[in-house]
Amino acid sequence: MNDNFVRIFDTTLRDGEQSPGATLTSAEKLDIARMLARLGVDVMEAGFPAASPDDLEAVRQIALEVGNTAPAPGRLPPIICGLARATRGDVDKAWEAVCHAQRPRIHTFLATSPIHMQHKLRMDPEEVVDQVREMVAYAKSYCDDVEFSPEDAGRSNPEFLYLVLGEAIKAGATTLNIPDTVGYTVPDEFGALIAGIMANTPGIEDVVVSVHCHNDLGLATANTLAGVKAGARQVEVTINGIGERAGNTSLEEVVMSLHTRRATYNLETGIDTTQITRASRMVSNYTGLPVQPNKAIVGANAFAHEAGIHQDGMLKHEETYEIMRPETVGLQQSALVLGKHSGRHALKVRLAELGFEIDDAQELQRVFARFKEVADKKKTIGDADLEALMADERYQPREIFRLEGLQVACGTMGMATATVRLAGPDGATHVQAAVGTGPVDATYKAIDAIVCAPNTLLEFAVRSVTEGIDAIGEVTVRLQADNGGKQTRTLPQSGRKQTRTFGGHGADTDIIVASANAYLAALNKLLVATGKFEAEERLEIDQASFGRDLEIA
Ligand code: KIV
Ligand code: ZN
Repeated sequence: MNDNFVRIFDTTLRDGEQSPGATLTSAEKLDIARMLARLGVDVMEAGFPAASPDDLEAVRQIALEVGNTAPAPGRLPPIICGLARATRGDVDKAWEAVCHAQRPRIHTFLATSPIHMQHKLRMDPEEVVDQVREMVAYAKSYCDDVEFSPEDAGRSNPEFLYLVLGEAIKAGATTLNIPDTVGYTVPDEFGALIAGIMANTPGIEDVVVSVHCHNDLGLATANTLAGVKAGARQVEVTINGIGERAGNTSLEEVVMSLHTRRATYNLETGIDTTQITRASRMVSNYTGLPVQPNKAIVGANAFAHEAGIHQDGMLKHEETYEIMRPETVGLQQSALVLGKHSGRHALKVRLAELGFEIDDAQELQRVFARFKEVADKKKTIGDADLEALMADERYQPREIFRLEGLQVACGTMGMATATVRLAGPDGATHVQAAVGTGPVDATYKAIDAIVCAPNTLLEFAVRSVTEGIDAIGEVTVRLQADNGGKQTRTLPQSGRKQTRTFGGHGADTDIIVASANAYLAALNKLLVATGKFEAEERLEIDQASFGRDLEIA
């Protein structure tokens, strides 16, 4: 690999998934992993296998499939990486999950800043060095490719870092990642830290130096680029910059900075930039985390030139106000627009091109039926519409509650009323009516009366996928189970228990239908995750607590 190549290490499925509310199902993780491979990432951190058996299984599935599939002719499958705290148990689990990949990597970490060593680890610096040496060597006994991170390097003593990193290299680490865990550093300082490490760490010339920045001060991209200028040749990033607190460095910002400013950096990546917009939409749809309109590269306004003076300049010469072409990031109308006469095969082919492989005939039938439904209302269906429909399809764990019918009366003349008909897991149909403060509230109350999963709605957002009166509306919701049904998982760094929230996505030309589907998707996830759900048991609860429920068998 030449020295001008910057490896893209994507951690959307690990650090990104630690964002509150970003909980993903295994199927969604697999779709995102396929998309990341298509995007051309060099390494994907598929998760933290020690977090739970489900997390381990999701990483294992990604290793098995994505880790053994060449994303394009002549390219190797991406490296599949699993995170592990510096303990034997975590390293064992990481290896159990990633060993199935053609190119597995174990990434282990231990904090090196005085504040973390003293208050979190309660370890002396000498003990930290011993543990790093031992755990890197242990990971190496499984796997040739071992990455080590001194957590909170941004606030660590540089001399101590040189020592720890030197020991990690001796113990077999092949990549040394330097995290600014709490997003504290500023670009000059972070660049100097990397330069110091490059100059003073024994054996550094034999390993790849990586940077991993958090965005607490809005400096993640700037710090990452400063690190690269100082010699780092791997960057750790997430799609849309999602991650804990203010997030991680965003993949699209770093990649497009290196691409747009080639003359300044003289560096290249293996990313197919035309896949960026798709990857961004998929991650936003699946996580339920909307992208802010003014977000660089992938925000809805990033390429919109609305002010009159700008438009005038643009018409005279595009580059007056545009430093990147929208096509470069895959933001263009699809050359192939589908319509109501398009057949199943054309749909399947286009979906595969967009990263959604459908092998299951029943799923294709379902998607085709939805596609026809929308095509009847909307003349042409572009990529964004298809992506919204697919996010909707993949979001629904269908085996539980499904919307069969919805009727709403609302307006200024009376109370908003909704009647919903749901297919339940028991095979029966349930009908409920409710009044509410508006059509969505009434719909959600009627659904609650059937599903019986007490919850708090934390977020509700509606947006249109394309322009025009017949546009598909997308709704994302995020909710949390009330009392007793709260789900937690362990975060790798703080060891804190995070209360799980569940996201749902719905897409339809009718936004109340989209709202109902989004809510049901989130409720279905909640029911699956709480593990309380069993078909017969639920039916009994439904009947007992809601005698008014009409059964239409
Ligand atoms: O921010 C951080 O320190 C991390 C490490 C686990 C690399 O995410
Ligand atoms: Zn991090």
